[in-house]
Amino acid sequence: MLKGDVRCLVVVGSQWGDEGKGKIVDVLARDADWIARYQGGANAGHTVRVREDQFILHQIPSGVLYPGKRCVLGNGMVLDPVTFFKELEELKARGYDVEGQILVSWRAHLVLSYHKLLDRVEEEGRGSSALGTTGRGIGGAYEDKVARAGLRVADLSPPERLRERLETCVARAERKLRAMGSAERIDTDLLFNELSAFAPRLTALAADVGAALAAALKRGERVLLEGAQGSMLDVDHGTYPFVTSSNTTSGAAATGVGLGPTAIDAVLGVVKAYTTRVGNGPLPTELPQDEAARLRELGAEFGATTGRPRRIGWFDAPVVRYAARLNGLTGLAVSKLDVLDQLEEVKLAVRYRLDGTPLDEIPADLARLSEVEPEYETMAGWRSSCAEARRLEDLPAGARAYLDRISELTGLPIRYVSVGTRRAQIIEV
Ligand code: IMP
Ligand code: MG
Repeated sequence: MLKGDVRCLVVVGSQWGDEGKGKIVDVLARDADWIARYQGGANAGHTVRVREDQFILHQIPSGVLYPGKRCVLGNGMVLDPVTFFKELEELKARGYDVEGQILVSWRAHLVLSYHKLLDRVEEEGRGSSALGTTGRGIGGAYEDKVARAGLRVADLSPPERLRERLETCVARAERKLRAMGSAERIDTDLLFNELSAFAPRLTALAADVGAALAAALKRGERVLLEGAQGSMLDVDHGTYPFVTSSNTTSGAAATGVGLGPTAIDAVLGVVKAYTTRVGNGPLPTELPQDEAARLRELGAEFGATTGRPRRIGWFDAPVVRYAARLNGLTGLAVSKLDVLDQLEEVKLAVRYRLDGTPLDEIPADLARLSEVEPEYETMAGWRSSCAEARRLEDLPAGARAYLDRISELTGLPIRYVSVGTRRAQIIEV
């Protein structure tokens, strides 16, 4: 899709995250010169497979496994420097020395150890209404950003300024901890020394990424903007408060790297052939335990970041229609079609009913969303393998009918179908 007139493409998750964006971005990255993350942080887990090797990328864009591609961590991200360097080292140990390919925004906010501590204490305090966060300190870092009390990459030097900023930040974090009844303290010296130690290495990668991307586009290079999580986890449009703390939808791609929205030429929505969610909150098409267990095994549906079992549901057309509108989707990539290969029948939710009345939209009120009843359509399973298909024509008739129905129900053309974890297991329509 990153061809011809499309110079700048956004790829967004169009359900609750874990749609298989890592694999799709890895495939699309072949045609890109630049791949940029624009929101989220180490809560993401993007799985990419190269031959027999599997990589789970948390903060580094999924295009990094191609030599020579420039990879950007945008200002909209919250960057955890400790795990970022760990990720770089792990890649290096596996033969991918990619540090020279990476640019980090001066304006990106940092996730520090106390954000992770706050994440844990806050979740504990929520008791039975816990959100099920990934514990990566994402909420606290974005909270500080919006409160204008965060620490940015640009604050890492000079040391005096870092020290001063850090003291204000730590005092604020400790106030929050005390307010939540926690006796934990934050060691400012330790934190300062830690930050000072990696400051030179991080600032060596820092750049005005918006300027770099705008210049690249002007030279005719191609840019892929890689979303994390999914539309239903968007802090404005998702199932609030069971959401992440950033705007995951495509509008955030522009602000999250420092480009204008007119730079974006197309938006590809990635959806799983069914639905999953990790963490708490409504999931209208959720399957009962035993049926969910079967698909969870077939699809290896365990969180890439936390290892938690993912909740499983049928394909939910209202959710994807909503995502189509919110993101201005111009096409769909459907992933993990092969996971459904053995099923006797497959179901799709075509619309919801609430108190018997048809509902075509996602209600903002969570209580209402928790009460909707999906109206299902059942299709025969295809009971044969999709894994070797490389063109739509190679797919079993039932699988094609299923894809056609998804396309009809969402009003979107299907541009890619992923039929396995390998790079080659993709159908480009
Ligand atoms: P946080 O982003 O760690 O604060 O978690 C908030 C919610 O978003 C929780 O339900 C998480 O499970 C979910 N979440 C965060 N990141 C991802 C992701 O990359 N994939 C799927 N769910 C995620
Ligand atoms: Mg994931």
